[in-house]
Amino acid sequence: MQSPALTSHAHLSEAAPVFSPDIEQIIKWRDSSYAADLYIAAVSWLDLFTYLDGRLVTEEELRLHFSLRERPTRTMLRLFQSWGLISNESGWLHATASAVRYLSGNSADSIASYIATMKYKPSVRELYEILRQGGPNTWHVERGVTKSWDALMQTDEFADLNTRGMEERGRIFAPHLAKLLDCTNDTSVLDVGGGSGVYSAHLLMHYSSLSATIFERPPVDQLARTCLTDRNLYPGRAHVIAGDMFVDPLPRDASLHLYSHVLHNWGPDKVHLLLSKSFDSIASGGRIAIYSCHPNDRGGQPAPAAEAEYSVLLTTGYEGCCYSVDDMRTMLESTGFQEIDYHKSICNRSLIVARKIA
Ligand SMILES: C[S@@+](CC[C@H](N)C(=O)[O-])C[C@H]1O[C@@H](n2cnc3c(N)ncnc32)[C@H](O)[C@@H]1O
Repeated sequence: MQSPALTSHAHLSEAAPVFSPDIEQIIKWRDSSYAADLYIAAVSWLDLFTYLDGRLVTEEELRLHFSLRERPTRTMLRLFQSWGLISNESGWLHATASAVRYLSGNSADSIASYIATMKYKPSVRELYEILRQGGPNTWHVERGVTKSWDALMQTDEFADLNTRGMEERGRIFAPHLAKLLDCTNDTSVLDVGGGSGVYSAHLLMHYSSLSATIFERPPVDQLARTCLTDRNLYPGRAHVIAGDMFVDPLPRDASLHLYSHVLHNWGPDKVHLLLSKSFDSIASGGRIAIYSCHPNDRGGQPAPAAEAEYSVLLTTGYEGCCYSVDDMRTMLESTGFQEIDYHKSICNRSLIVARKIA
């Protein structure tokens, strides 16, 4: 028997309008998926807001009190600042009135136990372990087996799945990047960790005199060749170099280096290494472009919630996090880059561009 909805158009048109989520929301449901788990872990396993009730503490004092690691603590505090649960006044942290009222065990209105009923959920426990131990090996590709994303990306099956995912996301984001990133005066772009090459492909379609080199580690280099061949860009205007970006020299002939969704996978030391390698191999006057989610904390303001939420996913599954605009400015300047510009993109992404002057 057919459902009434399929047989009667009249029935359909009388129904209340159906909510139709846009791409921003469709992506946000995935990108923000670990944020609530971190919140439940902090309320239940740490009892964070009872501790903060009536206290002003520094980030370091808070970390020492709970024996927490620096990277996940920073991500947690940024999340709670963006949610209005914690305020940061010149480095002194305190719980906001709402956080104290509803989440401190000292309050008559506390619902902390209600939140804590979820404390044994596996991903909540995992977030608690990451807070305490920092380990990002949370990829459960087989039941009972956890591996690092880095190790998985060197296996054919996972590299294929991940690169397909990045390619699909890139089809949404890359046309926007090609509008934001003016390559009029560039001759060649080096797309470091470029995945399928989708961002380079859109830059090539936008700028007819540009050529691109995708620098990728096997087995993704071969996937890039296939995708660029399908786009009639390889061989020809696109090249692919197989290598390890941390170990192998970067080619020296590109006027622009692009890191799209790459730096946020790594800790500050490795980010610094990549920025330094780029600085050394770009000629004077060349640029670096970093496309990712950069929580916008300029002027000491809390970042927008969706940007802080995505950083929880990066902190959970990788060695890095979403580096904020101020983080990136500090790292780029310490490497030698200047003229740092920030451009907002779609779906909580942004582009940071900097130049090598000398
Ligand atoms: C999150 S994906 C981003 C891919 C693409 N840039 C994008 O925005 O869709 C990160 C990429 O970095 C690559 N990668 C990781 N470690 C690498 C290494 N040591 N050398 C070169 N590429 C690496 C991975 O293979 C992966 O394609």
